[in-house]
Amino acid sequence: MKAFQGASIVQFVRRTTLLCLLAFAPLALFGCNYSEMRDDEAVQAYNQEFPQMPKKTIPVDGGIWVEREANPVDLADPLPSDSQTIARGAERYGFYCVQCHGPGLDGNGTVGQSFAPLPANLESSDVQDQSDGEIFYKIRFGFNRHPPLYSTMTDNETWAVVRFLRSKRGGS
Ligand code: HEC
Repeated sequence: MKAFQGASIVQFVRRTTLLCLLAFAPLALFGCNYSEMRDDEAVQAYNQEFPQMPKKTIPVDGGIWVEREANPVDLADPLPSDSQTIARGAERYGFYCVQCHGPGLDGNGTVGQSFAPLPANLESSDVQDQSDGEIFYKIRFGFNRHPPLYSTMTDNETWAVVRFLRSKRGGS
């Protein structure tokens, strides 16, 4: 009985393997022309020569390093201070800051309560007396326990949030 079972299993495996081979053979033969793959546009891009650059080349306009190396006080807001920018800033505040600084900007965000020191009150004179560039720089590159947000927000989004904070100067 056992021997019989063993033999039928071997037979079954053989048959299935043969069937699979027969089923996939046409696919392997005609399904895909592998020799054409290297002519594909996506592959050709990698065949191009990489432009040669002099050693120690660094970006001088744009790029995160230029911003990071700058003196924060020298950073000027490129956006117009209009209601559109402020509305955009308010929206981004809701995405990126509210969880720590709270809907009232007073530092009472739910997540922020686990921080020491607690998130700053963004309407306070401690914050509002700083220049736009200083506030921008701190949000962007972080300080103490503050998370750096340069890879989370674009610089224009960050400037828009600065404009929004400014619109709340003196509380409202
Ligand atoms: C993960 C929590 C968290 C998020 C998100 C966060 N902050 Fe903060 N923020 C803090 C904490 C904590 C402090 C206080 C840090 C300290 O004094 O060491 C702080 C302080 C600040 C200060 C005070 C700077 C100073 O000189 O004392 C500003 C301005 C500020 N945050 C702006 C923002 C803005 C704008 C956003 C959103 C773009 C943001 N933060 C997102 C936690 C957060």
